[in-house]
Amino acid sequence: MQIIDGKKVAESIQDQIAQVVSWRKSAGKKIPHLAAVLVGNDGGSETYVKNKVAACQRVGFRSTLLRFPDTITEGELLNVVEDLNQNPEIDGFIVQLPLPKTISEERINLAIDPRKDVDGFHPVSLGKMMLNQPTFLPATPYGIMQLLDFYQIKTEGKKCVVMGRSNIVGTPMSILMARNAHNANCTVTLTHSRTQNLKAETLQADILIVALGKPEFVKADMVKEGAVVIDVGTTRVPDASKPKGFVLKGDVDFEAVAPKCSFITPVPGGVGPMTITSLLKNTLLAVEMNGEAF
Ligand code: GUN
Repeated sequence: MQIIDGKKVAESIQDQIAQVVSWRKSAGKKIPHLAAVLVGNDGGSETYVKNKVAACQRVGFRSTLLRFPDTITEGELLNVVEDLNQNPEIDGFIVQLPLPKTISEERINLAIDPRKDVDGFHPVSLGKMMLNQPTFLPATPYGIMQLLDFYQIKTEGKKCVVMGRSNIVGTPMSILMARNAHNANCTVTLTHSRTQNLKAETLQADILIVALGKPEFVKADMVKEGAVVIDVGTTRVPDASKPKGFVLKGDVDFEAVAPKCSFITPVPGGVGPMTITSLLKNTLLAVEMNGEAF
Protein backbone atom coordinates (compact mmCIF):
# COMPACT_ATOMS: atom_id res chain seq x y z
CA MET A 1 0.00 0.00 0.00
CA GLN A 2 1.32 3.42 -0.93
CA ILE A 3 0.09 6.68 0.55
CA ILE A 4 -0.39 9.35 -2.11
CA ASP A 5 1.46 12.42 -0.85
CA GLY A 6 -0.55 15.32 -2.24
CA LYS A 7 1.56 17.85 -0.38
CA LYS A 8 4.73 16.63 -2.06
CA VAL A 9 3.14 16.55 -5.54
CA ALA A 10 1.61 20.00 -5.01
CA GLU A 11 4.97 21.43 -3.95
CA SER A 12 6.71 19.97 -6.96
CA ILE A 13 4.11 21.36 -9.40
CA GLN A 14 4.15 24.73 -7.61
CA ASP A 15 7.94 24.81 -7.98
CA GLN A 16 7.51 24.32 -11.73
CA ILE A 17 4.92 27.12 -11.84
CA ALA A 18 7.29 29.41 -9.91
CA GLN A 19 9.99 28.72 -12.49
CA VAL A 20 7.65 29.67 -15.32
CA VAL A 21 6.73 32.87 -13.48
CA SER A 22 10.36 33.84 -13.00
CA TRP A 23 11.00 33.13 -16.68
CA ARG A 24 8.01 35.35 -17.55
CA LYS A 25 9.43 38.11 -15.32
CA SER A 26 12.84 37.99 -16.94
CA ALA A 27 11.26 37.94 -20.40
CA GLY A 28 9.20 41.04 -19.53
CA LYS A 29 5.92 39.13 -19.84
CA LYS A 30 2.85 39.74 -17.74
CA ILE A 31 2.87 38.28 -14.22
CA PRO A 32 -0.24 36.13 -13.66
CA HIS A 33 -2.81 37.90 -11.52
CA LEU A 34 -5.62 36.02 -9.75
CA ALA A 35 -8.51 37.74 -7.99
CA ALA A 36 -10.72 36.06 -5.38
CA VAL A 37 -14.12 37.35 -4.32
CA LEU A 38 -15.20 36.45 -0.80
CA VAL A 39 -18.70 37.26 0.44
CA GLY A 40 -19.57 37.02 4.16
CA ASN A 41 -17.43 35.33 6.80
CA ASP A 42 -17.90 31.58 6.55
CA GLY A 43 -14.94 29.98 8.41
CA GLY A 44 -14.20 27.35 5.77
CA SER A 45 -14.37 29.83 2.88
CA GLU A 46 -12.06 32.29 4.71
CA THR A 47 -9.46 29.56 5.13
CA TYR A 48 -9.72 28.39 1.51
CA VAL A 49 -9.38 31.91 0.13
CA LYS A 50 -6.46 32.78 2.46
CA ASN A 51 -4.69 29.61 1.32
CA LYS A 52 -5.30 30.49 -2.34
CA VAL A 53 -3.85 33.98 -1.87
CA ALA A 54 -0.84 32.58 0.04
CA ALA A 55 -0.22 30.05 -2.75
CA CYS A 56 -0.21 32.89 -5.30
CA GLN A 57 2.50 34.65 -3.29
CA ARG A 58 4.58 31.46 -3.09
CA VAL A 59 4.73 31.03 -6.86
CA GLY A 60 5.18 34.73 -7.59
CA PHE A 61 1.66 35.50 -8.90
CA ARG A 62 -0.08 38.73 -8.10
CA SER A 63 -3.33 38.31 -6.21
CA THR A 64 -6.22 40.52 -5.17
CA LEU A 65 -8.75 39.61 -2.51
CA LEU A 66 -12.08 41.42 -2.75
CA ARG A 67 -14.20 41.08 0.42
CA PHE A 68 -17.85 41.98 0.74
CA PRO A 69 -20.35 41.69 3.59
CA ASP A 70 -23.14 39.12 3.22
CA THR A 71 -25.54 42.04 2.79
CA ILE A 72 -24.22 42.66 -0.76
CA THR A 73 -27.03 42.34 -3.30
CA GLU A 74 -26.95 40.11 -6.35
CA GLY A 75 -26.91 43.20 -8.58
CA GLU A 76 -23.91 44.64 -6.75
CA LEU A 77 -22.05 41.34 -6.98
CA LEU A 78 -22.84 41.11 -10.70
CA ASN A 79 -21.22 44.54 -11.08
CA VAL A 80 -18.12 43.28 -9.26
CA VAL A 81 -17.95 40.32 -11.67
CA GLU A 82 -18.37 42.60 -14.67
CA ASP A 83 -15.56 44.87 -13.44
CA LEU A 84 -13.27 41.85 -13.11
CA ASN A 85 -14.29 40.63 -16.57
CA GLN A 86 -13.30 44.01 -18.03
CA ASN A 87 -10.13 44.58 -15.98
CA PRO A 88 -7.12 43.76 -18.19
CA GLU A 89 -4.90 43.49 -15.09
CA ILE A 90 -6.82 40.41 -13.88
CA ASP A 91 -6.12 37.17 -15.77
CA GLY A 92 -8.53 34.98 -13.86
CA PHE A 93 -10.83 35.16 -10.86
CA ILE A 94 -12.99 33.05 -8.61
CA VAL A 95 -16.10 33.81 -6.61
CA GLN A 96 -15.80 31.64 -3.51
CA LEU A 97 -18.85 29.45 -2.86
CA PRO A 98 -21.17 29.14 -1.07
CA LEU A 99 -22.80 32.54 -1.55
CA PRO A 100 -25.54 33.92 0.74
CA LYS A 101 -29.01 32.49 0.04
CA THR A 102 -30.14 35.87 -1.32
CA ILE A 103 -27.79 35.53 -4.30
CA SER A 104 -28.16 33.07 -7.18
CA GLU A 105 -24.87 31.19 -7.58
CA GLU A 106 -26.04 30.20 -11.05
CA ARG A 107 -26.51 33.81 -12.22
CA ILE A 108 -23.14 34.86 -10.78
CA ASN A 109 -21.39 31.89 -12.42
CA LEU A 110 -23.02 32.64 -15.78
CA ALA A 111 -21.81 36.24 -15.62
CA ILE A 112 -18.13 35.23 -15.39
CA ASP A 113 -16.22 35.62 -18.67
CA PRO A 114 -15.25 32.04 -19.63
CA ARG A 115 -11.78 33.36 -20.59
CA LYS A 116 -11.23 34.20 -16.91
CA ASP A 117 -13.12 31.22 -15.43
CA VAL A 118 -10.16 29.64 -13.61
CA ASP A 119 -12.56 27.65 -11.38
CA GLY A 120 -13.85 25.92 -14.53
CA PHE A 121 -17.46 26.14 -13.28
CA HIS A 122 -18.94 28.11 -16.19
CA PRO A 123 -21.18 26.07 -18.56
CA VAL A 124 -18.80 26.93 -21.44
CA SER A 125 -15.85 25.45 -19.53
CA LEU A 126 -17.83 22.38 -18.45
CA GLY A 127 -19.17 21.88 -21.99
CA LYS A 128 -15.67 22.02 -23.47
CA MET A 129 -14.46 19.58 -20.83
CA MET A 130 -17.22 17.18 -21.83
CA LEU A 131 -16.27 17.52 -25.50
CA ASN A 132 -12.61 16.84 -24.69
CA GLN A 133 -11.59 20.33 -25.84
CA PRO A 134 -8.90 22.42 -24.11
CA THR A 135 -10.36 24.48 -21.26
CA PHE A 136 -10.06 25.27 -17.56
CA LEU A 137 -10.80 22.11 -15.58
CA PRO A 138 -12.51 22.32 -12.17
CA ALA A 139 -9.77 22.44 -9.53
CA THR A 140 -10.48 19.33 -7.46
CA PRO A 141 -11.05 16.87 -10.33
CA TYR A 142 -8.06 18.38 -12.15
CA GLY A 143 -5.95 17.91 -9.02
CA ILE A 144 -6.99 14.26 -8.76
CA MET A 145 -6.06 13.67 -12.42
CA GLN A 146 -2.62 15.13 -11.71
CA LEU A 147 -2.17 12.86 -8.68
CA LEU A 148 -3.05 9.77 -10.73
CA ASP A 149 -0.61 10.94 -13.39
CA PHE A 150 2.21 11.67 -10.93
CA TYR A 151 1.96 8.19 -9.39
CA GLN A 152 1.60 6.64 -12.87
CA ILE A 153 -1.58 4.87 -11.82
CA LYS A 154 -3.00 2.93 -14.75
CA THR A 155 -6.53 4.00 -15.56
CA GLU A 156 -7.20 2.67 -19.07
CA GLY A 157 -9.94 0.04 -19.09
CA LYS A 158 -10.26 0.16 -15.30
CA LYS A 159 -13.52 0.36 -13.45
CA CYS A 160 -13.84 3.71 -11.69
CA VAL A 161 -16.61 4.40 -9.19
CA VAL A 162 -17.23 8.03 -8.23
CA MET A 163 -19.34 8.56 -5.10
CA GLY A 164 -21.23 11.85 -5.04
CA ARG A 165 -22.56 13.89 -7.98
CA SER A 166 -21.86 17.51 -7.00
CA ASN A 167 -21.37 19.99 -9.83
CA ILE A 168 -17.86 20.85 -8.69
CA VAL A 169 -16.43 17.42 -7.90
CA GLY A 170 -18.37 14.20 -8.53
CA THR A 171 -20.01 14.96 -11.87
CA PRO A 172 -16.96 16.52 -13.60
CA MET A 173 -14.76 13.78 -12.10
CA SER A 174 -16.93 11.08 -13.66
CA ILE A 175 -16.70 12.80 -17.07
CA LEU A 176 -12.91 13.24 -16.88
CA MET A 177 -12.32 9.60 -15.95
CA ALA A 178 -14.52 8.39 -18.81
CA ARG A 179 -12.99 10.61 -21.54
CA ASN A 180 -10.91 9.20 -24.34
CA ALA A 181 -7.78 10.90 -23.07
CA HIS A 182 -4.45 10.28 -21.41
CA ASN A 183 -4.87 9.17 -17.82
CA ALA A 184 -8.56 8.33 -18.29
CA ASN A 185 -10.46 5.80 -20.45
CA CYS A 186 -12.13 4.22 -17.44
CA THR A 187 -15.52 2.55 -17.30
CA VAL A 188 -17.24 4.87 -14.86
CA THR A 189 -20.12 4.48 -12.43
CA LEU A 190 -21.41 7.59 -10.66
CA THR A 191 -23.22 6.74 -7.42
CA HIS A 192 -25.50 9.06 -5.46
CA SER A 193 -28.19 9.19 -2.80
CA ARG A 194 -30.64 7.07 -4.86
CA THR A 195 -28.14 4.35 -5.74
CA GLN A 196 -29.40 0.92 -4.75
CA ASN A 197 -26.97 -1.51 -3.15
CA LEU A 198 -24.10 0.94 -2.97
CA LYS A 199 -21.67 -1.64 -1.61
CA ALA A 200 -22.16 -3.88 -4.65
CA GLU A 201 -21.10 -0.91 -6.81
CA THR A 202 -18.12 0.22 -4.73
CA LEU A 203 -16.77 -3.33 -4.48
CA GLN A 204 -16.37 -3.31 -8.26
CA ALA A 205 -14.07 -0.28 -8.21
CA ASP A 206 -10.43 -0.49 -9.26
CA ILE A 207 -10.39 3.25 -8.61
CA LEU A 208 -12.78 4.62 -5.98
CA ILE A 209 -13.19 8.40 -5.77
CA VAL A 210 -15.23 9.55 -2.80
CA ALA A 211 -16.72 13.04 -2.63
CA LEU A 212 -19.62 12.88 -0.20
CA GLY A 213 -18.78 15.13 2.75
CA LYS A 214 -19.72 12.29 5.13
CA PRO A 215 -16.87 11.57 7.57
CA GLU A 216 -15.56 7.98 7.44
CA PHE A 217 -18.52 6.78 5.38
CA VAL A 218 -16.49 4.28 3.34
CA LYS A 219 -15.60 1.21 5.41
CA ALA A 220 -13.22 -1.63 4.64
CA ASP A 221 -15.98 -4.01 3.53
CA MET A 222 -16.94 -1.58 0.73
CA VAL A 223 -13.50 -1.63 -0.92
CA LYS A 224 -11.96 -4.22 -3.22
CA GLU A 225 -8.52 -5.63 -2.37
CA GLY A 226 -5.88 -3.64 -4.28
CA ALA A 227 -8.13 -0.67 -5.11
CA VAL A 228 -6.91 2.90 -5.55
CA VAL A 229 -8.89 5.09 -3.12
CA ILE A 230 -9.10 8.86 -3.54
CA ASP A 231 -10.74 10.69 -0.63
CA VAL A 232 -12.08 14.18 -1.38
CA GLY A 233 -13.89 14.66 1.94
CA THR A 234 -12.74 17.31 4.41
CA THR A 235 -15.31 17.68 7.18
CA ARG A 236 -14.52 19.58 10.36
CA VAL A 237 -15.45 17.22 13.19
CA PRO A 238 -15.50 18.84 16.69
CA ASP A 239 -12.66 17.60 18.92
CA ALA A 240 -12.08 19.49 22.18
CA SER A 241 -8.61 17.95 22.58
CA LYS A 242 -7.29 19.77 19.48
CA PRO A 243 -6.03 23.37 19.53
CA LYS A 244 -8.45 24.37 16.77
CA GLY A 245 -11.33 22.51 18.44
CA PHE A 246 -11.85 20.24 15.42
CA VAL A 247 -10.17 17.60 13.30
CA LEU A 248 -10.45 17.24 9.53
CA LYS A 249 -12.01 13.93 8.56
CA GLY A 250 -12.17 12.39 5.13
CA ASP A 251 -15.04 10.35 3.71
CA VAL A 252 -12.99 7.16 4.08
CA ASP A 253 -12.25 5.25 7.29
CA PHE A 254 -8.54 5.51 6.56
CA GLU A 255 -7.19 3.18 9.26
CA ALA A 256 -9.49 0.33 8.24
CA VAL A 257 -9.41 0.86 4.46
CA ALA A 258 -5.72 1.68 3.85
CA PRO A 259 -4.38 -1.89 4.34
CA LYS A 260 -6.60 -3.11 1.47
CA CYS A 261 -5.49 -0.46 -1.02
CA SER A 262 -2.73 -0.27 -3.59
CA PHE A 263 -2.82 3.53 -3.26
CA ILE A 264 -4.78 5.82 -0.95
CA THR A 265 -4.92 9.58 -0.29
CA PRO A 266 -4.81 10.73 3.34
CA VAL A 267 -6.88 13.60 4.80
CA PRO A 268 -5.35 16.08 5.23
CA GLY A 269 -2.42 16.04 2.81
CA GLY A 270 -3.98 14.17 -0.10
CA VAL A 271 -6.35 15.84 -2.55
CA GLY A 272 -6.58 19.15 -0.64
CA PRO A 273 -3.16 20.61 -1.54
CA MET A 274 -3.74 19.71 -5.20
CA THR A 275 -6.91 21.79 -5.49
CA ILE A 276 -5.05 25.07 -5.04
CA THR A 277 -2.27 23.90 -7.37
CA SER A 278 -4.88 23.35 -10.09
CA LEU A 279 -6.20 26.85 -9.61
CA LEU A 280 -2.64 28.17 -10.06
CA LYS A 281 -2.22 26.06 -13.19
CA ASN A 282 -5.48 27.41 -14.59
CA THR A 283 -4.40 30.99 -13.83
CA LEU A 284 -1.10 30.43 -15.60
CA LEU A 285 -3.02 29.03 -18.55
CA ALA A 286 -5.26 32.13 -18.53
CA VAL A 287 -2.30 34.51 -18.77
CA GLU A 288 -0.69 32.36 -21.45
CA MET A 289 -3.93 32.59 -23.46
CA ASN A 290 -3.46 36.36 -23.27
CA GLY A 291 -7.18 37.07 -22.99
CA GLU A 292 -8.06 34.87 -25.96
CA ALA A 293 -10.63 32.09 -25.86
CA PHE A 294 -9.33 28.54 -26.10
N1 GUN B 1 -16.14 26.33 -2.55
C1 GUN B 1 -15.65 25.09 -2.31
N2 GUN B 1 -14.75 24.74 -3.25
C2 GUN B 1 -14.67 25.79 -4.11
C3 GUN B 1 -13.90 26.03 -5.27
O1 GUN B 1 -13.12 25.20 -5.75
N3 GUN B 1 -14.10 27.24 -5.86
C4 GUN B 1 -14.96 28.15 -5.38
N4 GUN B 1 -15.10 29.31 -6.03
N5 GUN B 1 -15.69 27.96 -4.30
C5 GUN B 1 -15.54 26.78 -3.66
